Amino acid sequence: MTIDGVAASGKSSVSSGVARALGIPYLSSGLLYRAATLFALEDHADLSDQGAVLAALGTHPVRLEPLAEGNRVWQNGRDLTPELHSTRVDHGVSAIAVLPGVRAWVNEQLRQVPPPFVAEGRDMGTNVFPHAGAKFYLTASPRVRARRRAQERPEDVDAIEAALIRRDDLDRVQSAPAADAVVIDTGPLDLDGVIGKVLAGVQRHRAGQ
Ligand code: DC
Repeated sequence: MTIDGVAASGKSSVSSGVARALGIPYLSSGLLYRAATLFALEDHADLSDQGAVLAALGTHPVRLEPLAEGNRVWQNGRDLTPELHSTRVDHGVSAIAVLPGVRAWVNEQLRQVPPPFVAEGRDMGTNVFPHAGAKFYLTASPRVRARRRAQERPEDVDAIEAALIRRDDLDRVQSAPAADAVVIDTGPLDLDGVIGKVLAGVQRHRAGQ
């Protein structure tokens, strides 16, 4: 099954909760885009130069460890996970995610994982796993998402909201709901409420409704 959605819609927490409830792993595709960004930055590649970025990726084999409580990304024995949410990776990842060669690099790794799993990202239900069973797409207004983020970081809500609107714009190309996805507005719901809605959708799907 797939869970896609806009930035800061709670996709990771929801996917983790759903995966735990179903007893299967979840795959965070965003973490692989973040790992690609880290490698490009470490190699001092120009982030808009696909050839340079792919050359940087070629020298860094990675392994996504799909744990239900939160994925980890390894490069040989090095756990990259703590560095993947740094400000420099946050700033660079949108530029990296538009490169078709990087998208192919990420998708190839995701498709090697044996199902069942919950795949989480922007284009899991559309491009990567178009034949997935149940598909969900999470949305919420920029204001709601900014307020949630502000509870995690000591930043101004207006500034976070402006950054999210910019990010939505950059992500728009690869982030649209699949025609057969259930769209959930998470605005009026808390985390357990969203997880409950997704699980109810999975039940309906299994029952063939
Ligand atoms: O979900 P996240 O914030 O960790 O994603 C990081 C970036 O990667 C974000 O800019 C969108 C991009 N991304 C993407 O283009 N396609 C995906 N399937 C997952 C993430």
